[in-house]
Amino acid sequence: MPRRTPPAALNWRRSPKAHSADINAAVAAARAAQPAWEAAGGPARARILYAIARLLQKHARLFAVLETLDNGKPIREARDADIPLAQRHFYYHAGLAQLFPATSRAYGVCGQIIPWNFPLLMLAWKVAPALAAGNTVVLKPAEYTPLTALLFAEVCQQAGVPAGVVNIVTGDGDTGAALVAADVDKIAFTGSTDVGRIIRRATAGTGKALTLELGGKSPFIVFDDADLDSAVEGVVDSIWFNQGQVCCAGSRLLLHEPIADRFILKLKARMATLRMGDPLDKSVDIGAIVHPTQLARIRDMVGANTAGTTHTAPCPLPDGGSFFPPTLITGLSPSDALMQHEIFGPVLVSTTFRTPAEAVELANNTRYGLAASVWSENINTALTIAPQLAAGVIWVNGANMLDAAAPFGGIRESGFGREGGPEGLAAYTRPTEAPAPQRTSPPAPQPEVSGIDRTAKLYIGGKQARPDSGYSIAVHDTGGTLAGHVGAGSRKDLRNAVEAMNAAKGWATTSGHARAQVLYFLAENLSARAGEFAALIDRFGGAGQAEVEDSLNALFTAAAWADKFDGRVAGVPFGGLSLVLRTPVGKIAAICPDDAGLLAPITLLGGALTLGNRITLVVPPRLSLIATALYQVLDTSDVPAGTVNIITANPHEIAPHMAAHHDIDAAWAFDPALAPGVEEESARNLKRTWTGAFTPDMTRVLDAASAVKTIWVPFGL
Ligand code: NAI
Repeated sequence: MPRRTPPAALNWRRSPKAHSADINAAVAAARAAQPAWEAAGGPARARILYAIARLLQKHARLFAVLETLDNGKPIREARDADIPLAQRHFYYHAGLAQLFPATSRAYGVCGQIIPWNFPLLMLAWKVAPALAAGNTVVLKPAEYTPLTALLFAEVCQQAGVPAGVVNIVTGDGDTGAALVAADVDKIAFTGSTDVGRIIRRATAGTGKALTLELGGKSPFIVFDDADLDSAVEGVVDSIWFNQGQVCCAGSRLLLHEPIADRFILKLKARMATLRMGDPLDKSVDIGAIVHPTQLARIRDMVGANTAGTTHTAPCPLPDGGSFFPPTLITGLSPSDALMQHEIFGPVLVSTTFRTPAEAVELANNTRYGLAASVWSENINTALTIAPQLAAGVIWVNGANMLDAAAPFGGIRESGFGREGGPEGLAAYTRPTEAPAPQRTSPPAPQPEVSGIDRTAKLYIGGKQARPDSGYSIAVHDTGGTLAGHVGAGSRKDLRNAVEAMNAAKGWATTSGHARAQVLYFLAENLSARAGEFAALIDRFGGAGQAEVEDSLNALFTAAAWADKFDGRVAGVPFGGLSLVLRTPVGKIAAICPDDAGLLAPITLLGGALTLGNRITLVVPPRLSLIATALYQVLDTSDVPAGTVNIITANPHEIAPHMAAHHDIDAAWAFDPALAPGVEEESARNLKRTWTGAFTPDMTRVLDAASAVKTIWVPFGL
């Protein structure tokens, strides 16, 4: 952009819509530029990221005004939040680029799709880590708000970003879909859960890496011992910041009964002081809704509600424009539509709770898991409740705080992947694949299904269980000799295994020390039967002794991590600390690869268990007799019932059910033929998937088995 058009004349309707040919040209430019950009090295990239940060600072005023004109947010917010946070992101990632390990690899070309609520900030969250890690990008801003992204392109030119490293394509959902379909190595998306699901399906089986940052219905919990005046200000920051068009907005107010009435009175009094009007007026608190379509969506949702009592802030509606007044709806019950669905507007819904346990239950009663806010002056209450909340980001006595050092992102249907911190950078680096141990491969005889006889059963809930089908599968050794039968597990057995994992939820809260003891004991018991397992592995074409040794080593590594994979503490520039915790993903179902008959199940269960997950291993028939021999080892090793379940089955039959199951949090499958189906079906509840090649690399397993939870705590204020 050599000459700038005056911002007041700019209008989203005038930004061009890129079509496939434009996208392909942008991707080709990014592809051509990527090797040199990566080869330049972290320090060279750091200089450029720093230059971008400086230029964003230099042009802060212009960016703030442009953002407000385009989006309708109060200029105060654009000036004090959006633009400084975007600068901070580039500064922080200049640092990460400088320190970028020489051994880490970039993904390549990243397609990035962002929403309209924080146009420049979301761009910064996407572009800064991608560039720091040596990727090149094609970014599509939202159709309503392309302007600061286009100005950013000009900043890139000034900062010396080589041609092709950053490409901006404007357009709507069609353009986004074309970008998803293009020849990119990764898609990073922020936006609605519905579109996130579409993108999950569209990328299934393509091998494209994917991170999704989606919607939320985040709880804002106020206990009776909270500083109520501070909490009221917290609500204002939580749901009326950016007119509530914030994915992590505290949109569900949960009030402790003893203070509920008093709190609502205070809140209503505060609502009366909110000023709504021209977003460019510095004294305005509430600006415009981004677009009439979004305004209509909010109106429709609120208009359809008949439950509870609605209170509207008494601020006069400005003439014209897209305005919706701050609104509070009290007395809703947990199942009411407005308690469950994201409104994405300045509308707060509330209900009450009696006990801390009830607060946690209400808070977690949603398909989302993005953020949560807990208010209590009692350190025990706050820090006991925070870890129990199903959310990726939790603020103690605070709300909507964001920083480049503190990973941000959700669980459940709020998506997966993190932005910010080294954890966010990791989402832009290609994991190094450790080579799988070389094994001689036996011929794969066609599994023959026969009537039941002396058959190894399934292992569910700490017991050997007959398969629901009553059928078994014959297993042949390398020489083609019938070695035995295993149960033909089915969908019903998988459901039973999920129930067993549910019953074993106590494992998640055992100490790392206790989990290590169990894993060491498992290793000890496996070691006692090393000869037997080695012989069995040999019989199926493996290198028995070596594989047993590798498996024992994997268990020792897993046990070693149990009390060490805790996360880190991040300093954040708000007088607080962020605890960046590695928490278990929950219930994992994993289809074992068709080789490494002992090493694969052991590595997967070891990594899963050490972090407090429960796992169901689905073992393909070929090497299944090795896995079924583990039942006794598990029985004698104090592994709690239901923590590990083993189902022998035809993977192709189980995979779709496993991926579609709503009560499974992560689905792993290492056979490339299974990846498309597993990824596609996983879109239903947006569970995490791991579908690359299996490598016995414990770091990979630990990453796949953990979710980052960022807890912001006041510290040293
Ligand atoms: P959206 O999810 O449709 O749009 C976000 C981005 O995705 C935009 O850049 C859009 O052009 C693009 N997009 C749309 N369809 C696509 C497709 N099929 N493939 C690839 N890219 C596609 O969000 P929208 O329509 O702007 O808002 C609708 C609702 O979504 C809001 O009411 C709100 O509830 C939610 N939302 C949530 C956000 C969050 O950060 N959690 C952000 C924006 C919207």
